[in-house]
Amino acid sequence: MAEVVIVADKDEAGRLVAAEIVRQIVANPDYVLGLATGSTPLPVYEALVPAVADVDLSRVQGFALDEYVGLDPAHPESYRSVITREVVEPLGLNPDRIHTPNGALETIAHAGEDYEAAIEAAGGVDLQILGIGSTGHIGFNEPGSSFASRTRVKTLTERTRVDNARFFDGDISQVPMHCITQGLGTIQRARHLVLLAFGESKAEAVAGAVEGPVSSECPGSAIQLHPHVTVVVDEAAASRLKHADYYRYALANKPAWQGL
Ligand code: PGA
Repeated sequence: MAEVVIVADKDEAGRLVAAEIVRQIVANPDYVLGLATGSTPLPVYEALVPAVADVDLSRVQGFALDEYVGLDPAHPESYRSVITREVVEPLGLNPDRIHTPNGALETIAHAGEDYEAAIEAAGGVDLQILGIGSTGHIGFNEPGSSFASRTRVKTLTERTRVDNARFFDGDISQVPMHCITQGLGTIQRARHLVLLAFGESKAEAVAGAVEGPVSSECPGSAIQLHPHVTVVVDEAAASRLKHADYYRYALANKPAWQGL
């Protein structure tokens, strides 16, 4: 079962996850971090800035979950640009070691396989940061996605395009129709999954992912099949969890030798 950590706010979540990432990078300088975009992971990236001040990040590699198809990588909302702005520059990571799926139309037919090969060549992802969409998606794996899926092109749901229109001047017509995303099977191969969610609007998706039936109806429920998952949520995002009291009890009685 996933470990569920209910925190007071986003800042506490950010500090908690950043501290674990730093601990792991210090132990393994060839660390491979799975990056997520969207608003949810931002507190982690913000907390990482002071936390890595004295840490050598020169060998760290990063793999983003997804990218829009057909959007110029130089567009400010391409995930390549977002990751550069929010993670690579503030942390001083080597941009050549940070990967995003290639959404260019010319190479899209084999871009998924290329990305899978790049992850494998890096030795796999050590820790994958995940947000969850209001539809229950992780990465851009919308409801119905195969649990065995690899990196491939998907069509975004109308709901996700509406959710993301805020990044495109509120104009849904500017939100690309297609994306290339790590599959649920790709995400499952990361050694540690850390799923974050904040706010009431995520409560139902979190409950579905953590406690609901394992079903492609809620792609986030794939985390129940993974051996090492940490779910970090605020009170509002935890508000639909049936076993919240047990998660608090388990955390309060957690053996000191167990990490996150
Ligand atoms: P958000 O998106 O972090 O911006 O809420 C999460 C997601 O859609 O995966």
